[in-house]
Amino acid sequence: EKGGYPHFMLKEIFEQPSTLKDCIRGRVAEKGRRIIISGVMDNAEKFLNAKRVVIVACGTSWHAGLLGKYLIQDMCRIPVEVEYASEFRYSNPVLDERDIVIAISQSGETADTLAAINIAKSMGAFVYGISNVVGSSIPRETDSGTYIHVGPEIGVASTKAFTGQVMVLTLLAAAIAQLKGTKSPEEIEEIGKTVNKIPSYVEKVLKLNDKIERLSLIYTYARNFLYLGRGYSYPVALEGALKLKEISYIHAEGYPAAEMKHGPIALIDAEMPSVIIAPNDHLYEKIVNNVQQVKARGGSIIAIVTEGDTVIRNIADHVLEVPEVPECLSPIITSIPLQLLSYYIAINKGKDVDMPRNLAKSVTVE
Ligand code: F6R
Repeated sequence: EKGGYPHFMLKEIFEQPSTLKDCIRGRVAEKGRRIIISGVMDNAEKFLNAKRVVIVACGTSWHAGLLGKYLIQDMCRIPVEVEYASEFRYSNPVLDERDIVIAISQSGETADTLAAINIAKSMGAFVYGISNVVGSSIPRETDSGTYIHVGPEIGVASTKAFTGQVMVLTLLAAAIAQLKGTKSPEEIEEIGKTVNKIPSYVEKVLKLNDKIERLSLIYTYARNFLYLGRGYSYPVALEGALKLKEISYIHAEGYPAAEMKHGPIALIDAEMPSVIIAPNDHLYEKIVNNVQQVKARGGSIIAIVTEGDTVIRNIADHVLEVPEVPECLSPIITSIPLQLLSYYIAINKGKDVDMPRNLAKSVTVE
């Protein structure tokens, strides 16, 4: 059942080239020129008239939601808010018929997310679900939606569901942009063509496995970790930190890299490693500064960079190189080395990665 892998988590990490293929199937047509998300086409008026999008989710799904904000704002020019479902439901939210609420949940059963959906519906918002489990409560309660189709996720730490959620959000944003005309046909085609290549890029990233396994040995006994990123890499930093916390029980914080100087920089010393997500995007020069700031304070650095990077290579202690993709698709690529890093650190510590203490796969109570 684990397909020859020692744990479901590792199996699910390695499944991602094929789960992403399943997730993309039927959604990119005409060699990349057309994005097909039926929930958008069937509700075109709602998406064309939307004055705001509010995303609700918990945990890893909330991190995917934060990426959804960057994607939808950037591609569709619609303002987006992202809320923890548990906060949203008790925040006396302001919503009406021109709001679209997107609920993201792997299991489709998370109690707080379901409660948020019910509030949104009662206030007249159009509610769109992004879920993995076909026929679960969230897809049944929402007005429309998209399945991520990545197959059953057994490991408690979400991996393939996260990349599937981010892929669906990318396709959703591109489909809305196509409808609204906020992206040109050429830009849509670039996204569509790259989406089709993502499974093979992920295949390539997974080749970092042995290097990451060796690297993990150096960091197994760290007590704290900082994960830093900017722009599309900021939610990736949050997700990397969560993954490490939940399975290795090492304290880790994800932070927007530039926000570090407003407090957390005080923590940096030789005992506090930083994982810095620094692909070649429009914020690259900015994050180089942040890498230098960490180094100047004696912190050790593991950097995720684009193949061929020359600047950060000379500053960081370790670099993990990933293929170059347009920045809106980089989170799918950069999150995978972080999944492997947490996995190996937890294994080195002898932890039960598939069933970490105190956690459940589906949180059906608030
Ligand atoms: C982290 C993790 C949790 C879930 C959260 C939401 O690896 O798995 O943080 O993401 O409990 O679950 P779903 O997506 O099922 O609503």
